Amino acid sequence: MIGFLKAGSVGEGFVVRLNKFVSPETLRIGDFVVIQGKIYQYFGIIDDLRIMSANEDVFFDPPDSDFKKAVLTGPIVFSEMSLSPYVMVDNSGNVLSIKTIPEHFSIARKATGEDLETVFMKKASIPFFVGNPLTMEEKIHVDLKKLCERNSAIFGITGSGKTFLARIVFSGIIKNDVASLLVFDMHNEYGFTAKSGEKRFPALKSFFPGKVKVFDAGTNPDADNYINIPLNHIKPQDLSLLSSSLHYSGQSEETAFLVYKRKGKNWLKYLFSLQGKSEEEVAKEAESIGVNASSLGAFLRHISRLSSLEFLQDTDEESSIEQMLDYLKSGVSVVVQFSGKYASDSLSYFIVANAITRRIHEKYSGLTEEEREKRRIVIVIEEAHKFLSSDLRDRNIFGTIAREMRKFNVTLFIIDQRPCEIDSEVLSQVGTRFVLQLLDERDTDAVFQGVGGGKRLKKILRTLQSQETLLFGHTVPMPVAMRVREYGKDFFNEVQEKKEDPLKGINDIYG
Ligand SMILES: Nc1ncnc2c1ncn2[C@@H]1O[C@H](COP(=O)(O)OP(=O)(O)OP(=O)(O)O)[C@@H](O)[C@H]1O
Ligand SMILES: [Mg+2]
Repeated sequence: MIGFLKAGSVGEGFVVRLNKFVSPETLRIGDFVVIQGKIYQYFGIIDDLRIMSANEDVFFDPPDSDFKKAVLTGPIVFSEMSLSPYVMVDNSGNVLSIKTIPEHFSIARKATGEDLETVFMKKASIPFFVGNPLTMEEKIHVDLKKLCERNSAIFGITGSGKTFLARIVFSGIIKNDVASLLVFDMHNEYGFTAKSGEKRFPALKSFFPGKVKVFDAGTNPDADNYINIPLNHIKPQDLSLLSSSLHYSGQSEETAFLVYKRKGKNWLKYLFSLQGKSEEEVAKEAESIGVNASSLGAFLRHISRLSSLEFLQDTDEESSIEQMLDYLKSGVSVVVQFSGKYASDSLSYFIVANAITRRIHEKYSGLTEEEREKRRIVIVIEEAHKFLSSDLRDRNIFGTIAREMRKFNVTLFIIDQRPCEIDSEVLSQVGTRFVLQLLDERDTDAVFQGVGGGKRLKKILRTLQSQETLLFGHTVPMPVAMRVREYGKDFFNEVQEKKEDPLKGINDIYG
């Protein structure tokens, strides 16, 4: 027992007075506490701790011995904690939302492993161990089936552990055949291996060689296939998404749409053919298609980098995208990587991610109910705010996926460090959020916008360190603060298909 219920309300939370023998130092914000009612057990999280006194006079003459302190502790000075109650469990183990309140003096105790199993694991269709409560060694499980049913997100500052957590969750999804993942892997951390500092870690393809295919925009000899995107797939709205990478503004955007209007789907091929031509020749062309000559010249300069992207090909064949879709439908996950000169290149990343995702949208959104793929697809994007800002709302395929594609069994998994820059409409469509450390107030405001009890969760978030996360939303019956499990040997042994060194025989070209 750590204390008893002193006051509270269903809406505002419970106040527990700590037992005189329990030091407030032994409790941490984010810990699970159970209040034992007569009929229900109430589950809550500590969201505040404070020390109090019943009589200020003692501070004029503070106790000078442990004995005197002990005499005062309890009747005169004492500690309290605030709890956010989230669920109550009845005698049959049913987990219910809070509808009643326990009586005064109901006993408060720390949650046990069994309690956590009841709340997080027993009712889950596909439970997967992702972390431990902040001050306990017990396991927290998430329901992977629910996680993939709606859009999800991992937010946190750089270095907080987003990618490591994502690899853990994705390993669970692949191992349990919950969905096919399509991971746009900007920094090459999800395919064969991932480099972190001086260390190298195995990644998804190493664990599941038979269930993961790596597609590469460059020429990595280990890849299963290479990306080719037909030039005529690229539309002006795709380039609008890239306008900041290509350093162009409204005028060029207009030019792009004008050229497209004139030349149709061959517009980029046409523009590439103008590259290297003299100013006069470009001016002549501009006149013939009715665009301003200097705007066309400027636009050609802005898009000059595009013509050096070898995966953009003058072909009608879209073999790599088709093959990717076939894999995804048949239950194989695809990691799209960027080796060699395309490594961490945001321009290549945006073009590839956008073109492929648009194709998936075209293919899936036309299907009737009977034709719909049974296989769930989860599309993963890192650096999501660059795709999902509100000024790109109208042309953004990822926003459309987030809003409309759940009924087609396609959902989005967002990984990002700047949630405040993501369109709030898209954020509101995110069913499950893992929130690691966030420091900027605008980001914390964004992740809790529209979330009931967000203010209290924010207090807990402030106390998190790296590799710790707050998880809340559709996937879990109540919010949970946890230490993400270690991405190390035990985990590798648990998930991988082959019981041998996952790094063996891997040609490492990502440096
Ligand atoms: N679950 C984990 N197990 C082991 N180490 C971890 C774990 N989570 C985080 N780390 C450590 O923290 C470091 C940063 O983690 P990670 O690369 O996932 O951060 P990030 O949030 O993705 O950062 P960035 O925004 O820069 O990509 C890792 O290099 C690793 O050393
Ligand atoms: Mg990362």
